[in-house]
Amino acid sequence: MNQEIILKSRPKGKPTNSDFEINKIDEPQLKEGEVLLETQYISVDPYLRGRMRDEKSYIEAFKLNEPLSSALVVKVLESKNDSFKEGDYLTGMLPWKKRQVSKAKGLRKIDEGEVPLSAYLGILGMTGLTAYFGLTHIGEPKKGETIVVSGAAGAVGSTVGQIAKIKGLKTIGIAGSEEKIEMIKNKFGYDVGINYKSTETMSKAIKEAAPNGVDVYYDNVGGEVSDGVLVNINQFARIINCGAISLYNDTEIPTGPRVEPLLIKNSAKMQGFIVSNYEDEFGEGIKQLATWLKEGKLKFEETIVEGFENTPQAFIDLFDGKNKGKMIVKI
Ligand SMILES: NC(=O)c1ccc[n+]([C@@H]2O[C@H](COP(=O)([O-])OP(=O)(O)OC[C@H]3O[C@@H](n4cnc5c(N)ncnc54)[C@H](OP(=O)(O)O)[C@@H]3O)[C@@H](O)[C@H]2O)c1
Repeated sequence: MNQEIILKSRPKGKPTNSDFEINKIDEPQLKEGEVLLETQYISVDPYLRGRMRDEKSYIEAFKLNEPLSSALVVKVLESKNDSFKEGDYLTGMLPWKKRQVSKAKGLRKIDEGEVPLSAYLGILGMTGLTAYFGLTHIGEPKKGETIVVSGAAGAVGSTVGQIAKIKGLKTIGIAGSEEKIEMIKNKFGYDVGINYKSTETMSKAIKEAAPNGVDVYYDNVGGEVSDGVLVNINQFARIINCGAISLYNDTEIPTGPRVEPLLIKNSAKMQGFIVSNYEDEFGEGIKQLATWLKEGKLKFEETIVEGFENTPQAFIDLFDGKNKGKMIVKI
C-alpha cells in the first residue's frame, strides 16, 4: 500500500502525532523523463519544526494537508530518465511518500559501499557539511584553542567535536544524559563532557572545564546552556550560531541575559549561518569528510527508527533527546 505523511495542523509548542496524518495514496504512474522511486531512509531534522510555522524564512513553510519533505535515500524501481537506471540509489529533497515518481531534478546518485546508505543523510550529508563549514569557515579553529560544543551527542555536534580534535583543539561537549557523555568522550574523543540536565550552574561547569576560557563556541541549542557558555568566552572568541533547538517550540520569544557587552568587551564574533550558504563548496566538503572517514579520523552514530508510520514520532523524539547521533527512519 502506498502512503504519504501530511501536515494536518501547525504545532503549538512541542509537536504531537495529531499534527500529522498518514494517508493511503494511489500508486504513482511513470511518465517519460521520470524515475519511479521507493523510499529507503527518511531524515528527520530539528529545522523541519521551523517549516511547520506559517512564517517567512530562508526556506518555504510546509503547506497544511500536503506532504512534508526532507532529505531521503531512495531506490530507483524503474527509469524513463536517461540519467538514472533501475537499481540506482539516489538522495535529495523529496516528499514523505513510500513510492513516488520524480523528474529527478536535484537528486544525486550515491553508492552502497564503505558506508551505509543512511550515512548520506548524516555524516556525508547535510549534518556533516553543517559541522564542517560552520566550524571551519566561521569558527576558524586554531591549534591549542578550546572549543565548547552544545548538542554534542547529536548529528552535527558529534561531528564538530571530531573535526575540532583533528584541528588540534581541546574539546568540551555538552549533552543531555550520562550515556551521551560517555559516548562523546569514548567514541568522539571529547576531552570533557558536561551533562546540562544534571548541572546546576552551567557557567561554573564551563569555567571548571575551560580554565583558560572558551575560544570557539559551536552552538546547536541556544537558551540557558548558551548563557552559561558565553560568560566564559575569551578575547576574539568566535561563536557559531548553528541551531537553537531549545527555543524551537517556544510560542513567544524568551528573554535572557544580554550578550552585547560580552561580545564588545571580548571583541568576539557571533554569526548565524545556513549550510546552503556554502552550496558551491559542498563537493569539496563531502570529499574531505569522506577522506577523514576512510582514514578512521571520523566516526558517526545513527539512531535508526523502523517504519514509515513512525516518522512523525521520530521527529518529535528529537526534542526529547531520544537520538544519539543522526536520527533516521528506515522504511
Ligand atoms: N544552520 C544550519 O544550516 C543547520 C543545519 C543542520 C542543523 N542545524 C541545527 O543544529 C542543531 C543540531 O541539529 P542535528 O540535526 O544535529 O540534531 P541532533 O543534535 O542530532 O538532535 C537534536 C538534539 O538536541 C538536543 N536537545 C533537544 N531539546 C533540547 C533542549 N531543550 N536543550 C538542549 N538540547 C536539546 C537533544 O540532545 P540532548 O539529549 O543532548 O538534549 C537532541 O538529541 C539543531 O538546532 C539544528 O536546527 C542547523
